[in-house]
Amino acid sequence: MMNFEEAKSKLEKYDQLHVLKYYDELTDGEKEGLLQQIEETDFEVLKFCAKKDELAGKGKIEPLAAMQLDTIEQNREKFEKIGMEAIKAGKIGAVLLAGGMGTRLGSDDPKGMYNIGLTKDVYIFQRLIENLMDVVKRADAWIPLFIMTSDKNNDATISFLNEHEFFGYNADYVTFFKQEMAPAADYNGKVYMEAKNKISTSPNGNGGWFSSMNNCGVLKQVRESGIEWLNVFSVDNVLQRIADPCFIGATIDADCAVSSKVVRKNAPDEKVGVMCLEDGKPSIVEYYELTEELMNAKDEKGEPAYNYGVILNYLFREKDLEELLAKELPLHIVEKKIAYIDENANLIKPEEPNGYKFENLVLDMIHKLDSCLPFEVVRNKEFAPIKNKTGVDSVESARELLKENGFTL
Ligand code: UTP
Repeated sequence: MMNFEEAKSKLEKYDQLHVLKYYDELTDGEKEGLLQQIEETDFEVLKFCAKKDELAGKGKIEPLAAMQLDTIEQNREKFEKIGMEAIKAGKIGAVLLAGGMGTRLGSDDPKGMYNIGLTKDVYIFQRLIENLMDVVKRADAWIPLFIMTSDKNNDATISFLNEHEFFGYNADYVTFFKQEMAPAADYNGKVYMEAKNKISTSPNGNGGWFSSMNNCGVLKQVRESGIEWLNVFSVDNVLQRIADPCFIGATIDADCAVSSKVVRKNAPDEKVGVMCLEDGKPSIVEYYELTEELMNAKDEKGEPAYNYGVILNYLFREKDLEELLAKELPLHIVEKKIAYIDENANLIKPEEPNGYKFENLVLDMIHKLDSCLPFEVVRNKEFAPIKNKTGVDSVESARELLKENGFTL
């Protein structure tokens, strides 16, 4: 491990000496912990603070047609058959991305522990597992479920799910893995401290899932068990279908490297990322990158050409991802609320964003692949994201949608 002098010179190099401000006050154990954290932290990311505005830059954007509901209905039987066969043959794994901090929801617990019930307990994790169980029952086969957590929520997530006996899922088919962390910094690129002996860190974004899976040995298990496709999904959409046989079948049939569940936008300026081609490769343009021209562009049927928003439910062909391990994903700088200690070492939990976190995003993985199938789903049946407490994409809006779909809360 690094000694004090080595840690100091590493910090000097990145202009972060304030990290050692309280070093002399720390116990031996705390000193050791801090030195280790300094050794492990990648301060290189901080240089992006200064170049924040240069990062964007998109290539040439063109439409990428989605497979629409009518085509899906016409082929449903065929797709479901292919999908079911793949599930029964153990070729499908599900990957729950639950490493995020869910700061907008404002609960200290992992987001999946949030109880959206009104007259009974309905936890987010429970909803997701029950959705997956629908397919498990139909296929009469357990689907391996991989749950990505982070240092911040791993223990709480594992004990919660154990306490609730995995809401009926077979624990032998559940594997947890942790994603990596990145330092969080103020607007001047100085890392925050969350305690006298600890640099503020946050999970490194949902795009870290595959390399984290590899780093902790879980990928080896995936390969050895014969899983060929990984259905990656977010923790916050309580209506989504996971390991959906029709979606799986359509993807296998189309022989694409990845597919993405998409919903028709409800307005041209809706705040969702839309599928497109960028320099001939599948990609996603974020709503804030969508120019007037792209917003008004029409396809050959006269419909908006960039009309299908992603909902963070993707099916990746595992072998195509292996090649990505050697490639760097672009880094995104995201403004967030970051807890820190002030000059008097009091812990402050800000109400408003106060700095930057550094994230890799799953959508950048798509752009590295050769082909992608956008697959339309009925919005009100499969998309009820919980990002906020109230308003758009909130506990309230998700409850409404659940009720609309016949759930008792
Ligand atoms: P969000 O983009 O909503 O981020 O995550 P978040 O950090 O959870 O929430 P806010 O912005 O602080 O309110 C979309 C999905 O990606 C996962 C989340 O758990 C969620 O399922 N995610 C996000 C990770 O697994 N790791 C990350 O580092 C970030």
